[in-house]
Amino acid sequence: MGAAPTYCALFSLLVATNLALSFHRATDDSCSEFHVDQTQCQPYLSLNGETTKPPLLVVSLDGFRSDYLGRLAETSKTNGLLRLARCGVKAASMIPVFPTVTLPNHYSIVTGLYPESHGIVAHEFYDPELGRNFSLPAAGFSFSDSNLLDPVWWIGEPIWYTIKRQGKKSAAFFWPGSYIDDSVRRPDYWLPYDGKVPFQQRISQVIDWLQLPQPKRPSFIGLYLEEPDGSGHNNGPLSPLVDEQIQNVDHQIELLLNSMSANGLLGCVDIIILSDHGMASVPLDENVVKLEDMVKDIRSSAYCFDCAEGLTPTLLPVDDSQRERDRIASNVECRNEDVRIYDKWDFPRRHHYADSRRISSLLFDLSIQWRVIVGTEDYLPGGHGWDNIYPDMAALFVAQGPSFRHDGATVDSFYNIELYNLMCLLADVEPAPNNGTWGALHHLLAKTPPELPDGKDFVAAYILDYPLNSQGQRVHYIDDQKRRRVCDLLSGNNDPRRNLGFNLTDSYAKQLVVLHVPWGLPGTNKSGVKVLVSSDFVIGFNVQDGIPSWVSYTVSKSIIESNDSLIPSWRADPRLRVSDVSICDRLKENPQSSSLLLAPLFFPRLSSSLRQSTDAWVETNAIEISPSFEKYWEDIEAMIVQLSANLPGRLNIFVGPVRDSPSPAIFLVVSYCPDPVELLACFENQLNVQSFILPTHLHYSRDCLSTERFLRSHLTTIRDVERASGFNLFQSLLNEAKVQLLRRTILASSLLVDPRPSPIQTFGSMTKSFRKNHAIRLGNPICFSYWIFGLFSVIFTAVLNNLNAAV
Ligand SMILES: *[C@@H]1O[C@H](CO)[C@@H](O)[C@H](O)[C@H]1NC(C)=O
Ligand SMILES: *[C@@H]1O[C@H](CO)[C@@H](O)[C@H](O)[C@H]1NC(C)=O
Ligand SMILES: *[C@@H]1O[C@H](CO)[C@@H](O)[C@H](O)[C@H]1NC(C)=O
Ligand SMILES: *[C@@H]1O[C@H](CO)[C@@H](O)[C@H](O)[C@H]1NC(C)=O
Ligand SMILES: *[C@@H]1O[C@H](CO)[C@@H](O)[C@H](O)[C@H]1NC(C)=O
Ligand SMILES: [Zn+2]
Repeated sequence: MGAAPTYCALFSLLVATNLALSFHRATDDSCSEFHVDQTQCQPYLSLNGETTKPPLLVVSLDGFRSDYLGRLAETSKTNGLLRLARCGVKAASMIPVFPTVTLPNHYSIVTGLYPESHGIVAHEFYDPELGRNFSLPAAGFSFSDSNLLDPVWWIGEPIWYTIKRQGKKSAAFFWPGSYIDDSVRRPDYWLPYDGKVPFQQRISQVIDWLQLPQPKRPSFIGLYLEEPDGSGHNNGPLSPLVDEQIQNVDHQIELLLNSMSANGLLGCVDIIILSDHGMASVPLDENVVKLEDMVKDIRSSAYCFDCAEGLTPTLLPVDDSQRERDRIASNVECRNEDVRIYDKWDFPRRHHYADSRRISSLLFDLSIQWRVIVGTEDYLPGGHGWDNIYPDMAALFVAQGPSFRHDGATVDSFYNIELYNLMCLLADVEPAPNNGTWGALHHLLAKTPPELPDGKDFVAAYILDYPLNSQGQRVHYIDDQKRRRVCDLLSGNNDPRRNLGFNLTDSYAKQLVVLHVPWGLPGTNKSGVKVLVSSDFVIGFNVQDGIPSWVSYTVSKSIIESNDSLIPSWRADPRLRVSDVSICDRLKENPQSSSLLLAPLFFPRLSSSLRQSTDAWVETNAIEISPSFEKYWEDIEAMIVQLSANLPGRLNIFVGPVRDSPSPAIFLVVSYCPDPVELLACFENQLNVQSFILPTHLHYSRDCLSTERFLRSHLTTIRDVERASGFNLFQSLLNEAKVQLLRRTILASSLLVDPRPSPIQTFGSMTKSFRKNHAIRLGNPICFSYWIFGLFSVIFTAVLNNLNAAV
């Protein structure tokens, strides 16, 4: 009993201490050293009487996982990064590019390009055109191997060259790609790589560069430190030896800041401290797949790159033919849900990891801590290279300086390809073309740059186009007889009464467009896209390609409960002219069409009434899929039905085909506003959007993934959908709100599926799901039977009409 007051006193003491501490922190004036009056920097920054932008120093700490910052806070022996973050700005994390390894990421940071565009696609790869291998020597930690220094490997424009090209100076200390054998594309100041040069020596060189008089002083300095990556590999990320290295590099940062302070540079230089990727522990003898056990002749039939440790393995068959790829992959696919083999064109689109001859034809998407090796392995307790979605792969970003905001804020995670544009802005140069989104990181700055270029660089150019009669009324344009000759595939009931739903007044059609395409028609340069309106959905149909470009709908609350009448019965769309290319032509041109199915883009079950559901079975709402995709599409339908039934707000779906790569796909953008009013009026920060690019013709692992896994694998950003579809979405949003939406990572929403994998994965989803006979087979025999069915229905209708006439 007597203990209670003591505890109480102790507790209050604790609270008081805590309060005092946090009070102390809040008023900690150690930031004053950073937040200097900018007039003090003028002498340092002035050139020919004008004040130039502060120099930009970027320090990379290899393998510094984003949560290591928290470990620094626990020990608080050194005060480099934490002090910078407190007096500047940091990100929850920075998301690396795939594969999450050193060279591709360092080069993406300085070019703003995905590896497929900058050429350093992995640590080991083969370029068939050059007939040469790029390979990081396995022994030791050497970035100086002469084979890496050949400029032929390094494509794209790193920031130091952008700066040099525009008449300013740049410098780099060991930044990968800065010491290649190319005096033009190298920075003005650089050094040949030598891992033995002590960190302190590198830092004093940086200080010397910063003190160079103008105009010799570099606008950009990149500095590379190898730790804590090395200790992470050798001991695993949780090791105390890693803590030691974290403190060591933090101490180096501290020394750098002290030295800058001593030289009056602090507060006059923009500083970014970042890393390339994180680190995960690698379980010994667990989660290892040996290719030799699956493909007996793998050693002689394929080159396996990056297979020694097996974290980012890729396979290049010696005979790189489709048949050989299929043979190898068929022995590996569907064996293990954590080891997913892909044809490179089917690889999750958000990685943008396909469009380079240097990327091997067979890729693996591995669950974290899984490895694929040939037979024997080089085991290390720590590793990285996995999907950038895993928190363990996340990198560091901390920034401080006169250009950055200095409230100690933590901004949302962002992709490292966004940095190049920002660094160009800070260095006052024009960025080269890159994969970042202009403005994506402007919220890190103290002052938003005034000239945000207009994001709406291409405009909507649609007219609502319906067949009209001479009185300006909509009529069924189609000559059914003529049309059926063109298209004997579409044999659904062409009873004109089924098409009454398309006969809408102009003003009602406009209202429906506002409802179903709430942010305005998507912008594009493409001509030939006509807007077709029906009560429950709106189609953007490309009459030149004979293919729907997109379908958009706001889900109606009354979803058809009974589905008995939803038997597919595709028919020609009466709103198309006979001269317009129809689905039949596009299918006839496709030699594979006999194995394909037709699936609706707008799901008939989402119709507001049973009668209205007939509007959904028109060719303009149809897309070809492979039979193995059907299961996923049906599950997605069920998920959307469930979502709209359970959520109080408004749900909008924007969906359409992706045809910009050898792997056909469907893009799917699900938007939700918790406020049940208008989607258009949804506050941007309330708007919840999740998007996907789903391959419809997967080569391997076709239908052995759970739908959840499939969806999670093929998550994308809205930006990815814009690139792949060629459409500019959310047109009516203000520029800033649009940019805010575009910079969102796939971690920002879990509307349809949680982007983060759950820890326990079961591999039992191969059971056949119940198939609603949603889609019709396009193979000839079946098509014939549908034709017969169609014929019967025509006869039946005719008989019925005669009966009617008789009565
Ligand atoms: C490229 O690397 C593979 C795998 O290590 C090797 O078998 C092949 O001979 C190399 N090719 C060339 C041209 O060096
Ligand atoms: C990335 O940028 C490069 C250079 O502008 C471009 O060629 C490439 O198509 C872009 N990639 C994507 C996925 O947008
Ligand atoms: C379309 O609707 C208008 C007005 O309701 C009607 O006069 C016209 O006959 C309809 N056209 C067809 C082809 O059904
Ligand atoms: C649209 O056209 C403009 C000017 O013709 C061009 O600069 C832009 O890249 C085009 N955009 C797309 C998506 O084709
Ligand atoms: C129709 O819906 C019921 C539930 O409402 C479901 O059990 C049944 O499987 C569905 N039938 C078809 C053919 O989709
Ligand atoms: Zn590493």
